[in-house]
Amino acid sequence: GRVLLAYSGGLDTSCILAWLIEQGYEVVCFMADVGQEEDFVAARAKALKVGALKFHLEDMKREFVEQLIYPAVQANCIYEGVYLLGTSLARPVIARGMISVAEKEGCDFVSHGCTGKGNDQVRFELAFYGLKPTIKVIAPWRIPEFYNRFAGRSALLAFAAEKGIPVVQTAAKPWSTDENLFHISYEAGILEDPDVTPPADMWKLTTDPLKAPAEPERLQIVFKTGLPVKVTTQDGKVYTDSVEIFLALNTLARKHGVGRIDIVENRFIGVKSRGCYESPAATILRRAHMDLEGLTLDRNVRALRDQFVTVQLSNILYNGYFFSPEREFVTSCLPASQRTVNGTVRLALYKGNVIVEGRFSDEKLYDEKESSMDELGGFEPTDTTGFIKIESIRIRKWGAANIQKGQA
Ligand code: ARG
Ligand code: SIN
Repeated sequence: GRVLLAYSGGLDTSCILAWLIEQGYEVVCFMADVGQEEDFVAARAKALKVGALKFHLEDMKREFVEQLIYPAVQANCIYEGVYLLGTSLARPVIARGMISVAEKEGCDFVSHGCTGKGNDQVRFELAFYGLKPTIKVIAPWRIPEFYNRFAGRSALLAFAAEKGIPVVQTAAKPWSTDENLFHISYEAGILEDPDVTPPADMWKLTTDPLKAPAEPERLQIVFKTGLPVKVTTQDGKVYTDSVEIFLALNTLARKHGVGRIDIVENRFIGVKSRGCYESPAATILRRAHMDLEGLTLDRNVRALRDQFVTVQLSNILYNGYFFSPEREFVTSCLPASQRTVNGTVRLALYKGNVIVEGRFSDEKLYDEKESSMDELGGFEPTDTTGFIKIESIRIRKWGAANIQKGQA
C-alpha cells in the first residue's frame, strides 16, 4: 500500500518514514507551509534520502488565515480563558492538504507522528475521516510493535543511525514545539513540572517584555464584519491583504513582547498538560476586535454569542471537530453576529501590553447624545422610575421572604 506521511523533518517522523518503508509501504511525504520557520529544502532532501517516494510541500498560509483564523477572530475564540488555539487551528488545514495530496498520489493510507496522549492525533484523524471516510490511518505511536521498540530517544537514535537518517547535531531543546504563523507552542521535557519557570531563551518569537522598547508604538486596525481589512502602522505603512495584515501584526507584537502565556490546560482525552505559547498578532486582534464590539454590537447578540458561539466554537476547535455538523452550525451564526462590527480601533503596544487608545465607527448603535451624562438627548428620566418599579417586584418579594425567614 501507499502511505502519505505528515513529515516534520525531525527525528520522530524520519524514523516513522524508515519504519513504514521497513513494513513494506511506499511512502510519500507531506509538509504544509503554515508559516512556521523551517528549512523546507533540507526537509525535502532528508525525506528523499531516507527513502520517500516523493515529497509534497503545500503553501497553506492563506487558507489558514482566511478559513481558520478569521472565524476564530470573529468569535473571540479562546480555550479555558487563556489559550488562543494556534495548534488546533492549523490542524484542519494541514489535514485538508493531506487528503487532497493523498487522493492525487493514490494513497490509501495516511500517517502521522502524534503521540497517543495528545490532542493532535484526535484533530488529525477526525479531520481525515470527515474529509474522506474511507481513508486508513497509521498512527505508529499507538502501535505496540512501534512504541515498544522505540521507547526512549536512544532507540530512535540507534534506528536513525542504522537507516542512515541524518541527525542534526544541535543540542536537543528540553521541550517540544509546534509552530505556525499564528503561534508557537512549548510543551513536555522540563516544562512538565508546572512550577519550572521557562528559561528566558525558550521564548522564540517575542522580545522579553522587560527588554521591549521603552516607547509605545501605535497602530490602527480597520474591521469589516468583524474581520481586519486594513492595518496602518505608526510609520505610515498600510496593509490590506489578509496574510500580510497578520504577518505585519506579528512583527509589531513580537517587537513589543506581546502574546506570551504559560498555562496548565485540560487535554481532550482528560489529562492535564502544561504549555507555554506565543501568539503575537492573535493577541492584538482579539483585543481590538472585542473592543470594537463594545461600540458596534448589540448587547443581547453579544451576550448570546459569548455564551454560545465563543464557548462552543473554541471547544469544537480544541477537540478536533472542525469537520463536523456542529462546527457548520456554530459558524453559520457568525455572519449574523458580525454584520455591524465595522470600524477602526486605535492601539498602542508597550512592553507586553496591547493598550486600546480609541475607536470609531459609522455604525449607529452608539449615540453620544443618548449616552451623555450631561444632556438628556430625548431620554425621559421619569420613565426609569417605572422601569425600576417593575423590575423590583421580584426583588422585593425575595427580600421580604428573606426577612420573614430570619424572623421565623
Ligand atoms: N496543547 C496545545 C494544543 O493542544 C499545543 C499542542 C502542540 N502540538 C504539538 N504537536 N507539539 O493545541
Ligand atoms: C502530541 O502528543 O503529539 C503533541 C501534543 C498534543 O497533541 O496535544
